[in-house]
Amino acid sequence: MRTDFLKAEFEAKFGTYPQGRLFFAPGRVNLIGEHTDYNGGHVFPCALDIGTYGVARKRDDKSCRLYSMNFPETGIIEVDISAIEQSDEYKWANYPLGVLKTFMCDLDKVQGVSNATPVSDITGFDLLLYGNIPNGSGLSSSASVEVLTGFIIKTLFDVEVDNKDLSLIGQYSENHFNGVNCGIMDQFAIAMGKKDHAIFLDTATLKYEYAPLDLGDSTLVIGCTNKQRGLADSAYNERSSECEKALQYLEATSLGALTPEQFENLKERIPDEILIKRARHAVCENDRTMRALNSLKQGDIAAFGNLMNESHISLRDDYEVTGAELDAIVEAAWQQPGVLGARMTGAGFGGCSINLVEKDAVEAFIENVGKIYREKIGYMADFYVVNAGDGPREIED
Ligand code: GLA
Repeated sequence: MRTDFLKAEFEAKFGTYPQGRLFFAPGRVNLIGEHTDYNGGHVFPCALDIGTYGVARKRDDKSCRLYSMNFPETGIIEVDISAIEQSDEYKWANYPLGVLKTFMCDLDKVQGVSNATPVSDITGFDLLLYGNIPNGSGLSSSASVEVLTGFIIKTLFDVEVDNKDLSLIGQYSENHFNGVNCGIMDQFAIAMGKKDHAIFLDTATLKYEYAPLDLGDSTLVIGCTNKQRGLADSAYNERSSECEKALQYLEATSLGALTPEQFENLKERIPDEILIKRARHAVCENDRTMRALNSLKQGDIAAFGNLMNESHISLRDDYEVTGAELDAIVEAAWQQPGVLGARMTGAGFGGCSINLVEKDAVEAFIENVGKIYREKIGYMADFYVVNAGDGPREIED
């Protein structure tokens, strides 16, 4: 992507001197392992080659000025960094501000971070953001902004944190500043992204391995329903507390620690059908994710695709986070020739599907699924052929 317009836009908003520095953090897509990360299970996402760009420069006072080219109507948001509080008025800017506040006040509270000393000597900075991930699409535009902001703060102010720390800081800030009890998957996938690889992560221990994304004659196609996630945050928090309740009856360390067989033997202890369904999804999805890693390693792409299909069915019937739009786009995909697997990706309730499609069939796939979706839902879906990309970085001129 050409990036020269970003620095020009930065100078137009914030003045020319000294020059801003250009940074990038990717978005992410999850291949399989959905709603397992806050249940101590495995996830299997990859970073993308689309994401968020940021132009930034230090200031010598305590003022932070933020502007997003994706939300020009919000204008420049200016905040005194010695007194940062979450505010609905700040809208999108709550994501970078939450990360900044975490660095300054809460590093000692972020579990697992290698540098636990809050950084008190940060001055303000100017930051312009531009994202080419569709907003609210379930490709983690917010986690991308969080990791990008962390990477910028680390670089501008020489803070000794590594990329894994940046993911923990991003998650902490999303949990505590923005009030979403998300797991670690999005921030980890983004901070630790590696070109042409997916990341198999055990969220209970943060042990991970990179799996080469060798998909044979197939490729990944994202289908964006253009249905914004809307009220998803409250539904998300509801699912995570349902899983917590189910776990209390099971007396296990986590749902991710149970095999499907163990769960079948224990499930009678849960007195509520809905809680049984939620827990069954978390347990079986974790099992599918581990099998998906093996299928990929063995080059069995068809088996990988089948696991994706099973994942969608479980998210639809047991976890109930799909909705008419995601079901329409995925069910249309299943009918197409050359499709090995298709499922919703991310939190659900809207956002995107991820499809494993034979390269020769991609063109017809996009046309046919697009047509069926428009007829059923009444508006268009968008499609992107994507590649796995690297984590956050500075882009030198
Ligand atoms: C959102 C959250 C993640 C994860 C997914 C569902 O993207 O931020 O932590 O829970 O939903 O798998």
